[in-house]
Amino acid sequence: MKLVLIGFGVVGQGLAEILRDKADDLRQAYGFAPRIIAVATQRRGTLYHPDGLQIDDLLASIGKGHLDHYPAADGLKRNWDVQRLIRESSADVMVESTHSNFETAQPALDYCRAAFDSGKHVVLANKGPVALAYSELVTHAERLGKKLYFESTVMAGTPSIRLAMEALAGCRILEAQGILNGTTNYILTQMENGMPYKEALAQAQSLGYAEADPTADVDGWDAAGKALIVANAIIGKPLTLAQMTVSGISSLTSDDIEAARRAGERWKLIARVTPDGGSVAPTRLSITDPLANISGATNAITYKTDLIGSVTLVGPGAGRLPTGFGLLADLLSIHRSA
Ligand SMILES: NC(=O)c1ccc[n+]([C@@H]2O[C@H](COP(=O)([O-])OP(=O)(O)OC[C@H]3O[C@@H](n4cnc5c(N)ncnc54)[C@H](OP(=O)(O)O)[C@@H]3O)[C@@H](O)[C@H]2O)c1
Repeated sequence: MKLVLIGFGVVGQGLAEILRDKADDLRQAYGFAPRIIAVATQRRGTLYHPDGLQIDDLLASIGKGHLDHYPAADGLKRNWDVQRLIRESSADVMVESTHSNFETAQPALDYCRAAFDSGKHVVLANKGPVALAYSELVTHAERLGKKLYFESTVMAGTPSIRLAMEALAGCRILEAQGILNGTTNYILTQMENGMPYKEALAQAQSLGYAEADPTADVDGWDAAGKALIVANAIIGKPLTLAQMTVSGISSLTSDDIEAARRAGERWKLIARVTPDGGSVAPTRLSITDPLANISGATNAITYKTDLIGSVTLVGPGAGRLPTGFGLLADLLSIHRSA
């Protein structure tokens, strides 16, 4: 399997590291021997070699700040335009991990279209295209006999998508309710421990959980983007951001936290999707609810089904290796289906 990686930041490098470190295991256990043949970034160049790129050299060159540091080799093409790299490289699969854009899903959506049109399967960590254009992508992939996978978009490599689409296939999923943003859950956990909101946010930023501009997390938009993916792909409810009610945690006070505690409850930022719609809102949950006991940056999702009741999955929702693993799981699915 030959891969073109579009985006080579935290997630793209995480996948590369996993493919390097697990190469022997993957070959022995699954007969799986993927090769990265092309890599694209926005400002740090692009590379393509039809025979494959050396992962150590890729990581070393990006570590020095630019793919131009990659050693010269016969047949190596540098700085091709991203669209050309997708359309003209001989890759079998495009792995897309550029920034998530919840307004237009671009340019990633056009990258997906180009990948399908040039005969490639698509694996996404980028949430934008799945959140905004799921049915178009599925139709496009099916028409051309290609695969579309996106495990990493919700709860990183914790298999929230596979659980619903594969392990629970045959059940109807009546409702999905989850803690889908680690930053806000970390802040709420610290507030439970007595820390004021502003201090908890600053701590989340210093630990690398929250961005310098934390709006997407604390105002609920990141969780809403993931809820859209769950709505469209799992519940089968075509939903847009404009149709969702979204509120975040920034107005919660220490008094609110204390009042909930006295009532045997905890505040959580809950993303909820049903066949009728979706929402993201701070919600008081009884401490007997499995989601009430998820602390720190951990994520969780509960699927309520018609046949087996509720199933809750708990695990990491971000990070280099957890997200890289989600991409690996998708690549293995493509490999197994070949
Ligand atoms: N990090 C996580 O834990 C996590 C978890 C789940 C999902 N995700 C999703 O995965 C994606 C990547 O996250 P990340 O943390 O790896 O971000 P990141 O470290 O900022 O890396 C993004 C990469 O995409 C490249 N890029 C941006 N725009 C591009 C464009 N138009 N064409 C080509 N390359 C472009 C960047 O290029 P430069 O190197 O030149 O900046 C960079 O290499 C995001 O959509 C994120 O929402 C991340």
